[in-house]
Amino acid sequence: MNDRDRPVDWWRDAVVYQVYPRSFADSDGDGIGDIPGLISRLDHLEDLGVDAIWISPFYSSPLHDGGYDVADYRSIDSRLGTLADVDELVAQAHARGMGVIMDIVPNHTSSDHPWFVEALASEPESAAWDRYIVREGKGADREVPPNNWRSVFHGRGWSHVRDVDGNPTGYWYLHLFDTTQPDLNWENPEVRAEFRDILRFWFDRGIDGFRIDVAHGLVKEEGLPDFDYSAEDDGVRQDMFDEDLAHSPFWDQDGVHDIYREWRRVADEYDPPRVFCGETWVPNPVRLARYQRPDELHTSFNFDYLMAGWDADRMRRSIDDTIAQHAAVGAPPTWVLSNHDVVRHRTRLAPGYDNQTRLTCEVDEQRGLARARAATLFTMALPGSMYLYQGEELGLPEVRDLDPADRHDPAWHRSGGTDGTRDGCRVPLPWFGGTPSYGFNSSDASWLPQPADWADLTVTAEKGIEGSTLEMYRSALRIRRAEDALGAGALAWLDTPEGVLAFSRPSDTSAVIVVLNLTDSPVHLPASWGTDVLVESGDEVAVLDDDGQEHLVIGGETAVWLRG
Ligand code: GLC
Repeated sequence: MNDRDRPVDWWRDAVVYQVYPRSFADSDGDGIGDIPGLISRLDHLEDLGVDAIWISPFYSSPLHDGGYDVADYRSIDSRLGTLADVDELVAQAHARGMGVIMDIVPNHTSSDHPWFVEALASEPESAAWDRYIVREGKGADREVPPNNWRSVFHGRGWSHVRDVDGNPTGYWYLHLFDTTQPDLNWENPEVRAEFRDILRFWFDRGIDGFRIDVAHGLVKEEGLPDFDYSAEDDGVRQDMFDEDLAHSPFWDQDGVHDIYREWRRVADEYDPPRVFCGETWVPNPVRLARYQRPDELHTSFNFDYLMAGWDADRMRRSIDDTIAQHAAVGAPPTWVLSNHDVVRHRTRLAPGYDNQTRLTCEVDEQRGLARARAATLFTMALPGSMYLYQGEELGLPEVRDLDPADRHDPAWHRSGGTDGTRDGCRVPLPWFGGTPSYGFNSSDASWLPQPADWADLTVTAEKGIEGSTLEMYRSALRIRRAEDALGAGALAWLDTPEGVLAFSRPSDTSAVIVVLNLTDSPVHLPASWGTDVLVESGDEVAVLDDDGQEHLVIGGETAVWLRG
């Protein structure tokens, strides 16, 4: 961050707010959120109390995968703004003391990128094609893909290289995602040099760091061997969130770490040094911590915790493993419950939610909200940094009843509607008012329709209302900033009955006790924990015990922070 009052290692316990720019705020009424819209609502983020924003891609893109298909890494999608707008955004965020983290997409480009356009006009064995992963097909007519790799978005992971007349050439290019997202060849020095240059381009403009898309995917195993899908292939779905796939020849290869050592050297050339957060879907905290070795990435997303669900044992195990593995490499853990790729945690944690029938299962939305608030409050007190996803501070649910015709997720279309439900967490934010667009813009255009019943979930509806989700987030973030015991530091577990988690965050001057009751019944806390509540997610009440001492009783599915 360029703010000289900030410590150089601000990222070690930062609260970072993810902006999905097309759905945040739309300044020109075309139905697509944009950078001027984001600038106009920075007050909300300052008021919320976050340390930095991470913005999903806003580069020039045909938007076949929400901007994760980049046609030009040095220009802005004209629907979202201009380079001058980004400069203004960085200046305004910094003036408010907030860092700006951009999103870089190095695993693949868009098929509209000039490199791929050049490749399409070149011979398959040419230097232009060597920037991508292209191989001859198998079979007499080379009509069979070079190996059995599949696309994360369903279907095969290879497409024909076609000649100028559209006929298959016998060569195939790899795309682990959509056909319009050809994988780059990271063995090619030109690719490596180009990305170092892109990093510098943006660092020179003053951005504070990058979130790295598919950070675990850049390097593929030599020889591109087939992968044995049989272990998890039930014919229903296969994706990168699957643990077994993480051991595949296309994810988490050792060679990827060299790239991040190079990138770290670039980031360290700057004053203050720029920072990285990797999107690393790896099977466990041991593999994850390898990305945070001192000469690699500063942080990475900890998806193990996100996947732990509403389960005390799994959560505790994930927290312990994560803290231990990160301590071994001297890195801070990160915690995240929602992002633009997963079902919003208000819905995902709700009773009744089922990952297989996620669009049709009956979900108890009210208990989902109680659980989401409790899980968030508990998570915000863990040591390390925390990522929030836009709209979770309002308690937004997943929108599960989008019309198929309105859906954009490429995986939805590639899977014939059996997967690819990521649009439901990307619906534009409600700011004020009783009907769509709820202040998202001043027209009624919206790239994804908003539900009719979000009037009570707008920023204005919740602001200043005691007990609202927004006010709980604001209070917790204010206390987190003020308390020495929170953010970076130690955690000590406290004894609890089954289904309850509690830890103390000690510091030299004070301590904070954090309790999460995952059961649906009230729980009595020991009198020694006191009754001085700093912030709570639900009901709590102080009562006298048999010895005449006061102790706290917290409701089911509730979290509290207490002055320890
Ligand atoms: C990452 C992004 C996701 C995108 C994919 C391909 O997982 O978070 O939105 O579709 O990479 O770039």
